[in-house]
Amino acid sequence: MKFFIDTANLEQIREAQDLGILDGVTTNPSLMAKEGISGHDRVMKHYVDICEICVDGDVSAEVIATDYDGIIREGEALAALHANIVVKVPMIKEGVKAIRYFSDKGIRTNCTLVFSAGQALLAAKAGASYVSPFIGRLDDVSTDGVQLIEQIRLIYDNYGFNTEILAASVRHPMHIIQCAEIGADVMTGPLSAILALLKHPLTDHGLAQFLADHRKAADASR
Ligand code: G3P
Repeated sequence: MKFFIDTANLEQIREAQDLGILDGVTTNPSLMAKEGISGHDRVMKHYVDICEICVDGDVSAEVIATDYDGIIREGEALAALHANIVVKVPMIKEGVKAIRYFSDKGIRTNCTLVFSAGQALLAAKAGASYVSPFIGRLDDVSTDGVQLIEQIRLIYDNYGFNTEILAASVRHPMHIIQCAEIGADVMTGPLSAILALLKHPLTDHGLAQFLADHRKAADASR
């Protein structure tokens, strides 16, 4: 399972990269705004900065346009920035058409804002490299987000679609574990959810015990 971090914060991307477990980065316009990144040139430079930190990973950069020509124009400019860029396109009619265009041109895409199996099927048919079902936002409206991942896994496996299932809007470590059990290809979440996987009180307790015993034995041998 690939681990992507869902942020535009360079420090957090660096921290995840330094941990040695990072396979990519996803961003969206809200995450860019959260970091105070605005204006065409700054946004483009920020994507390059991310690519230079996450050197071997895929970096999703989202288009703002919602019309076909605009999506194509923005997507081509984003893809030209760096070889690691994956163009993030919303699941709308114009977006599906654009994904087909990008796919035919060899430009990789991440179809975002996916909330149903039907949408995921369309994204795969259009040739999306990744599909991003937002599991946390489904949970927010009392719908089982993880169940959607299961449905998409079944459908993609039935027909051998190559589109990778990128579980997005991951909020906590159980989301990651459940997605791994189902066989999501990728998960993207905040650094906090990734670091939470580290935690177990028995690990902390056991380590404290080992260190205390080691100190005791060292003191006794003096
Ligand atoms: O990048 C898209 C997605 O992961 C957003 O997550 O937490 O805003 O629902 P969230």
